[in-house]
Amino acid sequence: MIIAVDGPTASGKGTIAKALAAHFGLPHLDTGLLYRAVGVNAVRLGGDPDNPDEALAGCAFDDALLADAHLRSETAGGLASRASRHPAVRAALLERQRSFARQPGGAVLDGRDIGTVIAPEADAKLFVTASVAARAGRRCNEMLGRGEDVTLEEIVADLAARDARDSGRSIAPLKPACDALLLDTSDLTIGQAVQRAIELVNGRT
Ligand code: C5P
Repeated sequence: MIIAVDGPTASGKGTIAKALAAHFGLPHLDTGLLYRAVGVNAVRLGGDPDNPDEALAGCAFDDALLADAHLRSETAGGLASRASRHPAVRAALLERQRSFARQPGGAVLDGRDIGTVIAPEADAKLFVTASVAARAGRRCNEMLGRGEDVTLEEIVADLAARDARDSGRSIAPLKPACDALLLDTSDLTIGQAVQRAIELVNGRT
């Protein structure tokens, strides 16, 4: 069974994907982490993630980088969003994601283009959304909890910029697959959202 979970940043898709993987006993891949590693590695190599060749050079990252806490930061998210616009970067990460999805027994993958590009054959596709206000509030609590100094306005501006970049790009833009099931988590607790996701997947498989 392949489960594709797509959606914008801070929609809850990562938490939902992890919970689905635990519930159904499947391995999970957070594909955003791969793009974050590319962006961070490109900068470490002295490159600019907006430059296609320099972003591509970032794809040769060491897997140990995936465990680096810095990858979870807003800075790394911004670098990922810039690097992920380049077709060559997406092509370089394609096979790794496809083979993860197609391993025997199945998998859960979360990202932006899992249901549309990486695994269009997925058995269940969820598109997780939430209002900008709900997403910004969650991200703000998360960051303040880590002791980071941010304002809600800064987070709203950052989310809006990232959404525009991810939805407006010509290759693999953020959009629901035509057969995706929509899950709006704006007014749901984490527990409710996970429960609903399990019901949606069970209804599809
Ligand atoms: O999901 P996450 O916030 O970690 O993703 C970081 C960035 O990586 C996104 O803003 C998006 O630009 C990019 N990304 C992508 N395709 C994916 C996963 C992430 O373009 N499948």
